[in-house]
Amino acid sequence: MKTLIFALFLGFVSTTSGLAMAASGGIHLDEVEIDLSDKASLQRGAKTFMNYCLSCHQASYMRYNRMAKDIGLTDDQVIENLMFASEKIGDTMTVAMRSEDAKKWFGVTPPDLSVISRARGTAWLNTYLRSFYVDDEKTMGTNNTVFKDVGMPHVLWQQQGYLSHDEESGHLSHVTEGDLSNYDYNVMVADLVNFLAYIGEPSKIQRLALAKWVLLYLFILFLVVYPMKKAFWRDIH
Ligand code: HEC
Repeated sequence: MKTLIFALFLGFVSTTSGLAMAASGGIHLDEVEIDLSDKASLQRGAKTFMNYCLSCHQASYMRYNRMAKDIGLTDDQVIENLMFASEKIGDTMTVAMRSEDAKKWFGVTPPDLSVISRARGTAWLNTYLRSFYVDDEKTMGTNNTVFKDVGMPHVLWQQQGYLSHDEESGHLSHVTEGDLSNYDYNVMVADLVNFLAYIGEPSKIQRLALAKWVLLYLFILFLVVYPMKKAFWRDIH
């Protein structure tokens, strides 16, 4: 029986890692910690998203006021700091760019990012956003190790700087320095991926909060029931 369970476990591990490898074309993916209870991280991620992603991509399942509540901001804070187009607080996060124009400029329409964290996985996103490299043959001047011939430019070049890619070793190294150190850039991307994980599954935040109360309830119930059980059985034993 033990061997059977072990064999099943091995099978499970190898299929899941096999899938992860297939999705990245055999390239190592950098894992990232997702913590939906870390409001400060989600707020920083939201800021990066609004500043650098929403100009091309939309997140049409997400409303600004819902986000405000979930990540611990007031509606006014969101209106003043995070809404750059003239939308209303109850609107969903759409872009002004027409999809025909985007197609003309980038060859493809930038996809909606509402559920990208579930489609690609957070490790893939984390790696993708750190792996743009200079490639003169591309229209945008850059390519990406996990997304070959990507139509998206390296929008965070100012923060990360430009990287070059060594085909043989697979190593990325700086051609130009960015405004941020490697460490700070990785934190910026991790916060952004945390935010993308949140918009992919916004109700998870509420479920996590609810789970805490349920566990507390069970604990209190246990404190009450356990002595009662003991009292009942004392006479019988
Ligand atoms: C200038 C426009 C532009 C901006 C700004 C931009 N992107 Fe993109 N993005 C694109 C385009 C175009 C594609 C499609 C690439 C392709 O299919 O070749 C894309 C693709 C992607 C993908 C891959 C989607 C897939 O097919 O799996 C992800 C993830 C992504 N972008 C995330 C982001 C994030 C996060 C930001 C903000 C830091 C951002 N993008 C900013 C244009 C943009």
